[in-house]
Amino acid sequence: MNGKGEMEMKKLLAMLLAASMVFSLAACGGGGTSSTPAPAETGSAETTPAETGSTEGGNLVGVAMPTKDLQRWNQDGENMKAQLEAAGYTVDLQYAANDIPTQVSQIENMIANGCEVLVIASIDGEALGTVLDQAKEKNIPVIAYDRLIMNSDAVSYYATFDNWDVGVKQGEYIVEALDLENAGDKTYNIEYITGDPGDNNINFFFDGAISVLQPYIDAGTLVCPSGQTEKQTVATANWASDAAQSRFENILASYYADGTQLDVVLASNDSTALGVANALASSYTGNYPILTGQDCDIANVKNIVAGKQSMSVFKDTRDLASKTVEMVDALMKGTEPPVNDTETYDNGTGVIPSYLCEPKNCTIDNYQELLIDSGYYTEADLNG
Ligand code: BGC
Repeated sequence: MNGKGEMEMKKLLAMLLAASMVFSLAACGGGGTSSTPAPAETGSAETTPAETGSTEGGNLVGVAMPTKDLQRWNQDGENMKAQLEAAGYTVDLQYAANDIPTQVSQIENMIANGCEVLVIASIDGEALGTVLDQAKEKNIPVIAYDRLIMNSDAVSYYATFDNWDVGVKQGEYIVEALDLENAGDKTYNIEYITGDPGDNNINFFFDGAISVLQPYIDAGTLVCPSGQTEKQTVATANWASDAAQSRFENILASYYADGTQLDVVLASNDSTALGVANALASSYTGNYPILTGQDCDIANVKNIVAGKQSMSVFKDTRDLASKTVEMVDALMKGTEPPVNDTETYDNGTGVIPSYLCEPKNCTIDNYQELLIDSGYYTEADLNG
């Protein structure tokens, strides 16, 4: 599948040395190096100069990330670049400011510059078709990173977290926090928000959570006063916090201004949860609702500590980067990349062999151990 046979011997020596470094970092769910996330750079052009150095020796890896606006992609990009470089590869890391044509042209450039493996966290999983055909023509393997790229047979592998489990964890948190199993005749008001409709992950996050909540919705224990329950209705373009905020300000003004209690908000991730928390701060005076999230962005961990968000699902980007580097390394060497799921992720052209890393619940009770003791953040990151 990699079509790189003739390059292999040339690289083998360099790779052998580098591989020992990679594999010491590579156990998904284990250890990892400590990293301080790069600060989000908003408002600036996001094309970092191609850090390609010389492509001589042919070990260039193209890494296409969606945006610098969200903290996690900065961490993903930096972690992957550092680990790939430690393994002896040259990295062309690009951010596309959530602009699809920019991402397409960045990938075109990577192909033109002779990259041998592409790692792509797509902005819109449906929008990359033609450029991926170019990759396929040139036998460049494509690893979909975090978000599945849909309807393209150029996608070779998928490295992500268990996205269904992210939603399940959010749903289970709500069931437990409201003690829904013992609710009896009590009813609770719930509102929903998820992410970009072009991101295949929302199907797993949202549907995974609903799979846990559905019995309580059916029983009438969970009630949605706004009536906004459909995934497409509760989606948020680009996962933008300000869009989440204004939608929730409207909901609060229309359905809760009379003193109706909002008990819980199922938010699929932290950027949308942040918008909800802002709307609650400006437009709601009742008891603070349960609010879920995902990513453990710094602003949201601060909100967890301040009691303004109940939980976040932690996805350690060091683990995903390590696993992706293992995949890249295997493809470069012509060996089999690690996969642990060959059933779940059909991108419309068939099931894409995947590696799913393990998400974890983060609350006020374990954030210290999960985020600080593990070296993911420093105390200063959270106090700044
Ligand atoms: C990722 C989430 C992230 C969201 C917004 C999703 O595809 O899986 O971790 O919060 O995009 O960037």
